[in-house]
Amino acid sequence: MSQINVHPITGRKSPTNTPPRTGWPTTLVDGASAWIRPISEQDAELELEFLNSLSPEFRSLRFLGLIREPSLDVARELTDLDPARAAGFIALTDQHGRDCQIGAAHFHINAKGDGCDCSVTVSEAWQKRGVGSSLMLRLVDAARARGVKHMRAHAPARSDGSHHLAARIGFRRRLDRRDPATVVYHLKLR
Ligand SMILES: CC(C)(COP(=O)(O)OP(=O)(O)OC[C@H]1O[C@@H](n2cnc3c(N)ncnc32)[C@H](O)[C@@H]1OP(=O)(O)O)[C@@H](O)C(=O)NCCC(=O)NCCS
Repeated sequence: MSQINVHPITGRKSPTNTPPRTGWPTTLVDGASAWIRPISEQDAELELEFLNSLSPEFRSLRFLGLIREPSLDVARELTDLDPARAAGFIALTDQHGRDCQIGAAHFHINAKGDGCDCSVTVSEAWQKRGVGSSLMLRLVDAARARGVKHMRAHAPARSDGSHHLAARIGFRRRLDRRDPATVVYHLKLR
């Protein structure tokens, strides 16, 4: 059912199907306002809009070359998470009174339950302003709170942003022996 969301800062109404704004207001490096909250199954349309806004080259970075055309099914996979095994956060901004997704981060817990794989993406226009760091800090906290002991991420060796972001959060880096084009990052959580 459609609902009217009221922005906690501007008080403007947003006639979208997205859940009410709960989460954390975030001031970016350049002073712009953003909003981070847990991802919800109601976010599929926002996610699809976000995926469609990324260039094909950038999408290939996000999916490590497993390029998939954005579709509602892909967006649903990224937003309808099994709470026992996964968690995710999205970063939003207000664009003319309407929610606009500018980034997302997820983790999926392994079968043993002691580790998780994570990913993070920030749209090209919003990079280097602290969105990736804010999303990753929320993700790390959420994984720790679940008792997960280590977090892993795979990134293309050519993704400068991911090297800087990973170093900033404290991940250790090694090359993937099976695939020299990929870097594996590892973070001990406890
Ligand atoms: C990696 C990514 C999420 C970073 O997002 P972001 O919002 O730009 O990150 P932040 O603004 O928080 O930046 C963190 C640090 O990295 C630096 N940085 C970000 N992008 C950079 C780039 N392309 N080149 C150099 N430095 C960069 C920032 O300046 C900042 O440095 P600081 O700690 O010295 O201040 C984004 O580049 C992205 O979506 N890349 C494609 C997908 C990907 O590779 N994801 C990672 C693997 S899953």
